[in-house]
Amino acid sequence: MKQSKQIVLITGGSSGIGLALAKKFSANDNTVIITGRNLSKLENVQKEFPNIHIFQSDVTDDAEVRNLVDDIKDKFGGVNILINNAGIMNLVDAGKESNDLQKQMQEIEINYNSPIRLLHYFLPQLKNSKHAVLVNVSSGLAYVPFAQAPVYSGTKSALHFWTQAIRPQLKPHHIKVVELLPPVVDTPLAHGADITEDDNLKPMPPEKLADIFWKDFIRGKEEITPGISKQLKLMGRLAPKFIFKRLNKKPIPNNK
Ligand SMILES: NC(=O)c1ccc[n+]([C@@H]2O[C@H](COP(=O)([O-])OP(=O)(O)OC[C@H]3O[C@@H](n4cnc5c(N)ncnc54)[C@H](OP(=O)(O)O)[C@@H]3O)[C@@H](O)[C@H]2O)c1
Repeated sequence: MKQSKQIVLITGGSSGIGLALAKKFSANDNTVIITGRNLSKLENVQKEFPNIHIFQSDVTDDAEVRNLVDDIKDKFGGVNILINNAGIMNLVDAGKESNDLQKQMQEIEINYNSPIRLLHYFLPQLKNSKHAVLVNVSSGLAYVPFAQAPVYSGTKSALHFWTQAIRPQLKPHHIKVVELLPPVVDTPLAHGADITEDDNLKPMPPEKLADIFWKDFIRGKEEITPGISKQLKLMGRLAPKFIFKRLNKKPIPNNK
């Protein structure tokens, strides 16, 4: 795996896992571009890390993604590594009529539909690259659903299956497909979930996740399962009901 002098685009790089990956790729002599919706969050990152390029761009907005494709082509000549990282997690109790349906639909749009959109529009640039890699950031919850976040769990398992399905299709085009399935990571996304009682689910620092990712990434590993995600993969196959119960001692989120 080529590990330096690459043009790397990370969606949702202004915080958490995306930011930790951006710092890792940048420290290894790559040109890194991050996106996000909130411009001031992006500007704060750029103040601290002037080498990281920022673009305000919403992954759910077709026109904004197409502008991003054109801007990157003009300024950098194209991407070599596309990291579909942007994501949100809503805690939802499906048994309540008062749920915000629009928010749940938006969650599917960001977490599942948008990686498909990003690949679609960046395909010509990836095909043009000698060392193209697509990285999809799904979740350990792709193996075992987390009841407090039912739509989220569905999007991540859909992303996992899509990633597996496109891997052999992109191979003839020399685009390598990598999936990162993080465990619980200490980021704003994870802070709402009520999982603290289980020691195995203690959040991993994002920088530690980026270190594990990097070691596996440069070795050419296709499915990267840090921390508890490795056990979720195994137990999801060997004892799916047992592991589902352990993970979901409290299926209804607080105040939902
Ligand atoms: N934290 C965990 O425990 C955990 C575990 C497994 C998997 N993951 C996955 O890791 C990825 C990163 O999550 P995180 O934990 O690092 O969360 P985070 O700290 O909340 O970061 C999410 C990033 O995505 C951006 N984003 C959200 N919606 C967007 C949109 N529509 N268009 C463009 N950017 C958007 C956010 O910026 P703006 O809000 O400014 O747009 C932010 O930069 C997600 O796919 C998540 O599902 C996280």
